[in-house]
Amino acid sequence: MKRLSIVASAFVALALAAPARAQGPGSGGDPVKGKVVYERYCLSCHGELGNGAGEFAEWITTKPRDYRQGTFKWRSTPSGSLPTDADLDKTIRDGIYGTFMPTWYAIGEHNRRDVIAYIKTFSARWKTDKPQPSIVIPAEPPYSDASVKRGRAVYEKSNCAQCHGQDALGDGPSAHELKDDWGNPIVPYDLTQGHIKCGDTGSDIYRVFITGLNGTPMPSFTDSISPEEAWDLVHYIQSLSALYPKNYGPAAAK
Ligand code: HEC
Ligand code: HEC
Repeated sequence: MKRLSIVASAFVALALAAPARAQGPGSGGDPVKGKVVYERYCLSCHGELGNGAGEFAEWITTKPRDYRQGTFKWRSTPSGSLPTDADLDKTIRDGIYGTFMPTWYAIGEHNRRDVIAYIKTFSARWKTDKPQPSIVIPAEPPYSDASVKRGRAVYEKSNCAQCHGQDALGDGPSAHELKDDWGNPIVPYDLTQGHIKCGDTGSDIYRVFITGLNGTPMPSFTDSISPEEAWDLVHYIQSLSALYPKNYGPAAAK
């Protein structure tokens, strides 16, 4: 009987421990350990107070994230939502292309998990709010000439050129007057580079116009672009890059 109850309590302990482990990348970290990681690797840019005003910030554009509002650009969650832990882990692991935010692959998942828990202490939003469920990205249909053409029509219909420009070089009529939520000037991305800031896959591009980039003028088009149109738009953007190894689209035709 006694042995049985030991076995039973072991099961209870396992069951209690299981959810923490099942939460996935970036979850369940220790903020006390995370503070040490932060002070070693992040403070020089993101600042002691998490306000994005570390000693390098002055010399850097785009500015390091100010964590106090709980506003994050790269999320799998709808516009206005907090990111998931996995979203933060992906950003921190891969870095942000074309900016001073490096990849932190080398510090390992444990350190990233702890530093994520510490970053959350800078904004009360993490106590009062929860990330909404991630958007569903349907499987990518095949890339084709016809899809690229339809994508160009979606680009025109949605007025992307207002900011990104006719040829998507980031030079639209509004390009030079945009500011982010922190009051810093921000330029629309040059979509012909063959990389976006946070990821290179079709799904990474898809995600951006459905979730928008919180804290920036880049809006969410979830109400005006259907999933089929969104994939066409992805193919149009891919076609603009000489890096995309397909003989289709305006970039390849030049
Ligand atoms: C050399 C400067 C620098 C260092 C060091 C640095 N960052 Fe950043 N970080 C940036 C910049 C710049 C951005 C903003 C990029 C942008 O918005 O385009 C950023 C943005 C972020 C974001 C916001 C992503 C989003 O979706 O909005 C997170 C999270 C982040 N950094 C985490 C970290 C962590 C964790 C560390 C330490 C392990 C770290 N950073 C170290 C420069 C730095
Ligand atoms: C009101 C201006 C505005 C409009 C309209 C706009 N964008 Fe953007 N977009 C931006 C800005 C600003 C950025 C850069 C944000 C940054 O670097 O943090 C951006 C960034 C992007 C990125 C790169 C994201 C990344 O992770 O690097 C993509 C892709 C994108 N926009 C696609 C589009 C498409 C497609 C449309 C039309 C459906 C569109 N945008 C409409 C302002 C706009």
